[in-house]
Amino acid sequence: MNDTRTTVSSGPFGRVDEVDEAVPAGRPVAESDAAQAAELHTPVLLRQCLDLLAPALVGPNAPARPILIDCTLGMGGHSEAALERFENLSVIGIDRDPEAIALASARLARFGERFRAVCATYDRVDSLASDAAEAAGRRSGVVDAILMDLGVSSLQLDRAERGFSYLRSAPLDMRMDQSGGRTAQDILDTADEHELARILRVYGEERFAARIAAGVVRRREAGDPVRSTDALAELVRACVPAAARRTGGNPAKRTFQALRVAVNAELAVLERAVPRALNSIRVGGRIVIESYQSLEDRIVKRVLAAGFSSSAPQELPFVPQDAMPYLEPATHGALKADDNELAANPRSAPVRLRAATRIRPAAEAPAPEPAPRPRTHPARKPAQGRRGR
Ligand SMILES: C[S@@+](CC[C@H](N)C(=O)[O-])C[C@H]1O[C@@H](n2cnc3c(N)ncnc32)[C@H](O)[C@@H]1O
Repeated sequence: MNDTRTTVSSGPFGRVDEVDEAVPAGRPVAESDAAQAAELHTPVLLRQCLDLLAPALVGPNAPARPILIDCTLGMGGHSEAALERFENLSVIGIDRDPEAIALASARLARFGERFRAVCATYDRVDSLASDAAEAAGRRSGVVDAILMDLGVSSLQLDRAERGFSYLRSAPLDMRMDQSGGRTAQDILDTADEHELARILRVYGEERFAARIAAGVVRRREAGDPVRSTDALAELVRACVPAAARRTGGNPAKRTFQALRVAVNAELAVLERAVPRALNSIRVGGRIVIESYQSLEDRIVKRVLAAGFSSSAPQELPFVPQDAMPYLEPATHGALKADDNELAANPRSAPVRLRAATRIRPAAEAPAPEPAPRPRTHPARKPAQGRRGR
């Protein structure tokens, strides 16, 4: 790697720079980081995302200095294209992965004050939006557009040591933010068989969850626990019946997805984040969300659908003002990648893109957040125990 160092500029939004997670001014980065970021990840449905965001960012109904929050900055591909296309745009890029923040910040440093990176989970989108709005002198507390390109980046998948890929041998980490929290290895070492099966069934939609969980616990009890990505992939393969192995790609895919979702609490964060994002855009503002697995897409679809429909009881002869829809669809159902994109970037295959326009202010019609789930402590056997043996 080229060792030349430059400085990441941060500080596009005045006061908001003081947020402690912002990339600190003066942080040294390698110039080659900028080029690396562009090579590491190909943004999915890029043109479609920008076209869908455009009505909120340019034209007669857009402010002179629009603001976009990119909740999933990654390698900064979507943000870079937005900053290039919309010349007065400012972008706040959120990512929970410090490595992504560093690489994308280097890539986008050329935009100076127009870009700022924040290392955080995207359920902080509402407070970051209101800070940015205030710093830009808006009293409304809302921004113009929000983009969420969910899941993992190619950086995370392709760096073996991150432990996300069943194709590469590595420790079972899978944390998007490696500075803390439990790893996939911690879950495999400590969850009891029942809990493990639940994680695989719910987060991976894995039909053979019980068998795989039993296999993991059996190895643990034998004093030979699964200790690497390839060992886990091999165990899953051995637990899945031969007939099922012949269809649906690598049998380890669902187990790896499930552990990644559990390690990063992905669905719980998303459930909080989507209503907060919807409540952070102005009337006429747009949200664009790309999902890569059905569990995410279901959450997105459900939250958007609630905004598209009236909340008035069916039997009422008219819809009262406060029960009117507060969102309008900006796509017909979900957009998918076309054949050209699939050929150029096979990782675009699972994408489902949904977009919406806010048509009533959040102050009048807030998108409701899910009630916090009660912490349950189901009666369980100790971690090492297997049921019925
Ligand atoms: C598919 S990538 C985004 C790629 C990006 N659009 C680009 O063009 O380079 C998803 C990114 O979202 C980040 N991410 C996932 N869940 C997150 C969360 N809950 N909060 C913040 N960032 C998250 C990941 O770390 C990853 O870098």
